[in-house]
This record gives sequence, structure tokens and C-alpha cells, in this order.
Amino acid sequence: MPNIIAPPSWRIPERFVTPEAVFRDRRRFLQEMGFLGSGLLAAPLIGQAKDSEPAPAKSASPAAAATTKAGKYPAARNPKFDGKGLQLTAADVPGKYNNFYEFTTSKERVHRMVDKFTIDPWAIQIGGLCEKPMTLQMGDLLSEFALEERVYRFRCVEAWSMVVPWTGFPLARLLAKVQPKAEAKFVKFVTAMRPDQMPGIERLHGYPWPYTEGLRIDEAMDDLVLLATGIYGQPLPKQNGAPVRLVVPWKYGYKSIKSIARIELVATQPATLWETLSAEEYPFESNVDPKVPHPRWSQATERLVDTGDRVPTLPYNGYGDQVAKYYRKG
Ligand code: MTE
Repeated sequence: MPNIIAPPSWRIPERFVTPEAVFRDRRRFLQEMGFLGSGLLAAPLIGQAKDSEPAPAKSASPAAAATTKAGKYPAARNPKFDGKGLQLTAADVPGKYNNFYEFTTSKERVHRMVDKFTIDPWAIQIGGLCEKPMTLQMGDLLSEFALEERVYRFRCVEAWSMVVPWTGFPLARLLAKVQPKAEAKFVKFVTAMRPDQMPGIERLHGYPWPYTEGLRIDEAMDDLVLLATGIYGQPLPKQNGAPVRLVVPWKYGYKSIKSIARIELVATQPATLWETLSAEEYPFESNVDPKVPHPRWSQATERLVDTGDRVPTLPYNGYGDQVAKYYRKG
């Protein structure tokens, strides 16, 4: 791919490797719990019922799902997010340069490792502190919520960025449907956990899988937060988080969790994968901020993945007018 610096495929990018101290601490914890050396390491991490995926409904046959999808793409672009003044990233780049650690840590290889990952049928479970918990099949999701296209900036914590036309709908609409209770203060998101289809899970066996992310409930209700099902006018490719992922444009990319199987309304801040690995480097809040360097590199500028150009990073990734209000002190 032009202008993308391709590291050797065997190299785990230094910045996303578990810091050694964190890894050792985790090993110590697991040892103390009696998991290491007993052959049970995978079982407690993978087998918990609470992290299991909802069973797909029998009615959601692949043929039915395909019919539901037909005609949904491309969706009309929302004029409020028409990308005016932004240069879209070349359409062939976002599908070939991915972070999806359940498969591999090599960005250039993710798209070649997702064949075995099955996304149809797919169900998403929404529960926890809400009046109307439910399990929705992808077909239900696509027929209940009108899809629209929005052009957003996307900024990774690794200091690269893209400008992408997502197709989806505001998460707030789904949350309104399940009616959060007053005690719900955070929203937790969990990616599907499929070690047999996702080779990276076993390879990074010290990681606190499944991939989990979270938002405060006021953040989650902001109109900018999308549940995306498509990109560039097509259903999402698997490497971009099919069939449904989060997009939170004012936060670093690791908050935009892929291939969501479960959404839970909770009272306390959920433990997220990256924060658990290194809270100092990947904090829960993680708003894009050029003035706050990552402990190991500057966040003042970012590299556009398609052209390689370096441009200044904007506070809140350019969405401050809409979201700075959530973070005003006092
Ligand atoms: N979601 C899951 N489940 N697993 C991941 O490894 N990586 C995150 C985020 N969501 C990740 C994930 C990171 S670090 C980034 S930058 C974006 O996905 C990358 O999204 P993209 O590959 O569509 O550009």
C-alpha cells in the first residue's frame, strides 16, 4: 500500500504490546489464582457465562438477513455530517490497515485473517440496568433503525488518522428503546469472543479478553456516537468490525469497539481491555487531546494513513463544539 510504513508482519507494534510490568503483574495475579500452569488459563477467561454471546434466533437465516440488508446501502448522507472541508481517505485503505487484536497485531494482515469469522446470523444483546432488555438480530437492527451516512474524522491513539464515511445510526436511539434506569451511569460494550475464529486471542493469552469498552451514559447518549454497520456505502467488512461496531469520533480509536455482541447498562465504570492493561497509557476517558502526550509519544500531530501527510491534531478531534460541555469542571 502506498505511503503506509509496513513493519515486518512478525513485529508486534511496541506501543501496543502489553507493558512488561503489566504483563508480569497479570501473570502473578493469575498464578495466585491458580490459573497458570494448570492448563486452565483459557477457561476462566473465555468460559464465563456473562460474556457468552446470545444465541442467534432460528428465524434469522442467512437468506433472510441478506434480504434485509438489500437496499440499505448506500444510505443517504446526513447533511449535518457531510464532511465539508474534509478530504476522505482513499476507499481502499481503511479495509487494509486495521487494529483488530483478536486476529493479529499486524495492521496489514487483519484483512487476510478474517475469513473464518462468521457474522451471519448475528445477535446483539442489550441488558443490565434498563426497563426493556432485549436481544436483537442484525435483521431487526437494520429494519428498526434508519441508516444514514456520516463523514467523521477517526484518530487512533497511535497518532494516525483517517476521514471515513460511516453508515449507521445514533446509539442513543437504541438506548432509548431499552429505557435505561436512573441507576445506569455507564454503558459497557463487549466484542464477540470466538477463540476458534480469532487466532489473536490465544496468541495474546495474557490479555483480559473479551475486548470490552465503555462510555459514561451522557457521552453514550450524544448524537455523535454511532452504531456503524457500514463504511463507504457498503456493509462493514469483517476487518472493520462487522456486522456492527461503535464509532466515537472525539475519542481515540480504541474506544470504537468492533463486532459488538453485548451492550450493558451498568452503575459503575466498567473495566476496559486497554485500561486494564495500562491505565496510564489508555485511560477510560481517552478524549483526543493534542496537549496531552501519550507517555511514549506526542499527540500534537497525526499521520494521514493514505497520503502520509502529517497534520495538527485537533482538541476532541474537531468535535469540541459539541462535546466539550461534558468535561467542564465545576
Ligand atoms: N475492537 C476490537 N474488538 N478489537 C480491537 O483490537 N482496536 C481498536 C478499535 N476497536 C480494536 C477494536 C483500535 S486501537 C482502533 S484504532 C480501531 O478499532 C481501528 O478501527 P479500524 O481497523 O476500522 O480502522
